[in-house]
Amino acid sequence: MQCEILTLFPEIISGVASQSILKRAQEMGHLRLRIHNIRDYTPDPHRVADDVPYGGGGGMVMKAEPIFQAIDALRQPGGKFRFVIPSPQGIPLTQSLAEELSQEHQSLVFICGHYEGIDERVQSGLAAEEISIGDYVLTGGELATLVIIDAAVRFIPGVLGDPQSAQQDSFADSLLDYPHFTRPSAVRGLGVPDILLSGNHQAIKRWRRKEALRNTLLKRPDLLEDRNLPDEDQQLIHEILEESPSALCQPKAGRSLS
Ligand code: ADE
Repeated sequence: MQCEILTLFPEIISGVASQSILKRAQEMGHLRLRIHNIRDYTPDPHRVADDVPYGGGGGMVMKAEPIFQAIDALRQPGGKFRFVIPSPQGIPLTQSLAEELSQEHQSLVFICGHYEGIDERVQSGLAAEEISIGDYVLTGGELATLVIIDAAVRFIPGVLGDPQSAQQDSFADSLLDYPHFTRPSAVRGLGVPDILLSGNHQAIKRWRRKEALRNTLLKRPDLLEDRNLPDEDQQLIHEILEESPSALCQPKAGRSLS
């Protein structure tokens, strides 16, 4: 995965990208990440990258030309780009979009907005995709860019220590994850489900599936809407409902089973 990041705040990106899995992914050659300071492409000595909005109103708008200049400097013969502008107006980031981005052969160019936004001609001129990481507004596109890259890079084989991790994640199967426990088996009077200590792999597998279904039913029932679950899952749901029918009557605010 090859990412070019255009930003006014390079340290936000470098600070996060130099840690943990993103760092390792780069060291292993799975992720190539280059950071470009948009200010380096401003023509004036004061390195001004923003201006007041046409039509008036508060705030500042990021100028188009320094961004176009930065992209021109990146272009190489045969090089192809897929442009991404993180924005609350974009299509929602999902596991499947993250996976798709992880398989992109073209370089991903992330353009991080700030202030009131970016001159609209950047998006239209580059036919850039807008991607949102959620229905809230951040102060800039850097954190969203990092979220998108982090979610994508996990799909690249070899990036996670355990190759099964990505397959077992929440959402991997449109279900939330099952609960995890580690040693010791008793912490402050709290135990571990006996089955996980039993060594019975078949039973553990069934327990995990059941708890993933329970988590999803309780916390994100919308993920199960319109899904045709296999008979074994239906049986597990039947058992869950028999065990705790009342829990499903109190879904979290804004989410219901119906
Ligand atoms: N920039 C500001 N808010 C954002 C969001 N919710 N998603 C992506 N980029 C953003």
